[in-house]
Amino acid sequence: MKRTVLYTTLALLLLPIGACSKKKSEPEPTSTTPFTVTIPLGLNDDLMVPENNPLTAEKVALGRMLYFDPRLSADGTVSCASCHHPDKGWSDALPISQGIRAQNGTRNAPTVINSTYMFSQFWDGRAPTLEEQAKGPIINPVEMGMEAHDLAVTNIKKVPGYQPLFQKAFGEGPNIENITQAIASFERTILGGNSKFDRFQNGDENALNAEEKLGKELFFGKANCTRCHVGATFSDSQFHNLGVGMKQEKPDLGRFEITKKEADKGAFKTPALRDISRTAPYMHDGSQTTLEEVIEFYDIGGEKNPYLDPQMKPLGLSAEEKKALVAFMKALDSEPYPQVEKPQLP
Ligand code: HEC
Ligand code: HEC
Repeated sequence: MKRTVLYTTLALLLLPIGACSKKKSEPEPTSTTPFTVTIPLGLNDDLMVPENNPLTAEKVALGRMLYFDPRLSADGTVSCASCHHPDKGWSDALPISQGIRAQNGTRNAPTVINSTYMFSQFWDGRAPTLEEQAKGPIINPVEMGMEAHDLAVTNIKKVPGYQPLFQKAFGEGPNIENITQAIASFERTILGGNSKFDRFQNGDENALNAEEKLGKELFFGKANCTRCHVGATFSDSQFHNLGVGMKQEKPDLGRFEITKKEADKGAFKTPALRDISRTAPYMHDGSQTTLEEVIEFYDIGGEKNPYLDPQMKPLGLSAEEKKALVAFMKALDSEPYPQVEKPQLP
């Protein structure tokens, strides 16, 4: 019995889906092979897995397919990977994302790398978990454009090859809860760490060169970056106003739209900084093109406005110090990079 379960799981992961079609018409038994995640150096092992959605190999494999499947969108052209593509730092390389029928959104796509560590999801923190987050884009009119979650579920139900995979992973057919649970499980395995910085912290004195070391001193010292970019992923998961976009006639008020608190006007969630060299352009509106530009912005203390975070002050950095900060951020690139290929879809 054990052997069969193991074998089916292996088949699931290794073979094209058509190869493991059922012989009998009775439902497949649920199988729960625990998924072992290798935590890269520098990250902690609390992946914030909700109690009702333990990580299993079956869910991760299914979630990977759904993540790349454009049939979750209204016209069958857009998948999660369209805007969070492994080849583009798990983002989209655009200032503002583009969804179905080439419609523009209003914000820059954050990376999915290490998103499981965030205490809330989205720039304004409006979703508490990855499961809840994944429900958003499917019915967002300018992203995947479904008029209701049921329509996405119907599309997935129509694919015969998905049925046995859902049975195995969840013991039931597709619904919006288990679709998003599978996607979230897959996202929890997209981890970035073991950067030059982590190896340095771990005792390898030579992992950083002199410039990167200077950048590290500044980041944690004079430049005060770590006031907000802190911890394993370099984010406090809190909301701050740096003044980005505040000059617009109708600025995006970010966190304020959720809390309606005056002090939250123009505040956005501190983004994580690992693999930051791979996710240009930057900021919630994609308005800053390079890391050099970001440093210039911090050097002048951000953009003045009534809600500017009190931690934002001019830094008085020299040209050499600016370069060092950029070099330090580049030393946060993961090795290896969490690359995932698009799986064969059922
Ligand atoms: C059309 C482009 C687009 C598509 C399609 C899309 N996203 Fe996003 N995603 C975005 C943008 C833009 C944001 C930020 C929106 C905001 O903060 O209001 C975002 C935010 C996120 C976040 C939050 C990350 C963080 O650090 O806060 C996660 C996780 C995520 N998306 C995963 C997904 C998943 C899973 C899917 C598929 C179900 C998906 N996205 C589909 C563009 C897209
Ligand atoms: C007061 C808190 C705070 C401080 C201090 C701070 N940051 Fe940020 N950082 C943020 C927030 C919030 C954002 C997103 C702002 C937005 O889009 O409106 C951000 C955005 C960024 C981005 C763009 C990330 C992306 O994915 O778009 C980079 C790079 C960055 N910060 C690096 C730094 C560096 C380097 C320093 C030190 C010089 C620093 N930050 C200091 C809070 C802070």
